[in-house]
Amino acid sequence: MTNELIRLESVSKHFPIKKTLGRVTETLKAVDDVSFTIKKGETLGLVGESGSGKTTLGRTILQLEHATGGKIFFDGIDITNLNAKDKREIQQRMQIIFQDPYASLNPKRTAIEQVIEPLSLHYDKQEAHQRALEMLNKVGIEGDAIHKYPREFSGGQRQRIGIARAVVMNPDFILCDEPISALDVSIQAQIINLLVELQASLGLTYLFISHDLSMVRYISDRIAVMYLGKLVELGPTDKLFEQPQHAYTKKLLSAIPVADPALASQAFNQTSPALSNTNISNEGYWTEVSPEHFVLKEDI
Ligand SMILES: Nc1ncnc2c1ncn2[C@@H]1O[C@H](COP(=O)(O)OP(=O)(O)OP(=O)(O)O)[C@@H](O)[C@H]1O
Ligand SMILES: [Mg+2]
Repeated sequence: MTNELIRLESVSKHFPIKKTLGRVTETLKAVDDVSFTIKKGETLGLVGESGSGKTTLGRTILQLEHATGGKIFFDGIDITNLNAKDKREIQQRMQIIFQDPYASLNPKRTAIEQVIEPLSLHYDKQEAHQRALEMLNKVGIEGDAIHKYPREFSGGQRQRIGIARAVVMNPDFILCDEPISALDVSIQAQIINLLVELQASLGLTYLFISHDLSMVRYISDRIAVMYLGKLVELGPTDKLFEQPQHAYTKKLLSAIPVADPALASQAFNQTSPALSNTNISNEGYWTEVSPEHFVLKEDI
């Protein structure tokens, strides 16, 4: 028995960006040689400035992008090169919650129809309806509201529908890609609490991407830091905040004026030239500095 749900071994995703005479002459290393595990039932936070490769890494785990290098294991199964049928099966166990629920919902479908849709392939009409209804109630969409269209809901309610759609398939793993950054600050905490409740009651495992470091600190058991496609630090949440090791992590954390978390997330949301234009290296060797706290140490 292992308590590991996902294992990445030297995973890379390089995009071809320039071709000369039909041959790829330049690639962008969106994700480069990333290794880590995600434990069953935990929340792993994933942070790093805009363009550091967080979404690409998440999409590669979900098999929405094909890794150009390395291996990905899901519940002990190597899922890196599955055939289409096996891939569909595995993908049902991995869902995604997007930043912008409006874009991910079908404007022509009511709340209940959105949630029935993924179920309809697997259950008869009545069962699918019943499951969708229960799920919507669980996320707080009740009564006549289940027959409303996306445009009739607030941003927070739309995100609740997006969450219901992801969770109703009874997945093991959910990629939460900035699930609250498009929402009013006043309702962000409600959505976070809903995610926490669902995780506890359904035993879900989350990879939680966010620019909001105070939220990441609140929700994550461990945190992974990405910089220019590389993983530079990984550790238990408190350790990482209290004793950051990598120069990039230190810079990231020092960008937060501690007294005002709202301002802090605002500041971090903008790609700060101070962060990008550093001569911080993302090369080195992976070292365990204390139990479960790893850092990419520069070669001397
Ligand atoms: N399909 C693609 N083709 C080419 N380049 C891509 C593709 N998808 C992403 N990239 C590039 O890969 C890099 C990483 O992008 P990614 O979206 O993963 O970053 P991110 O950390 O999620 O950023 P953000 O915080 O802004 O969401 C960026 O330079 C991006 O332009
Ligand atoms: Mg992203």
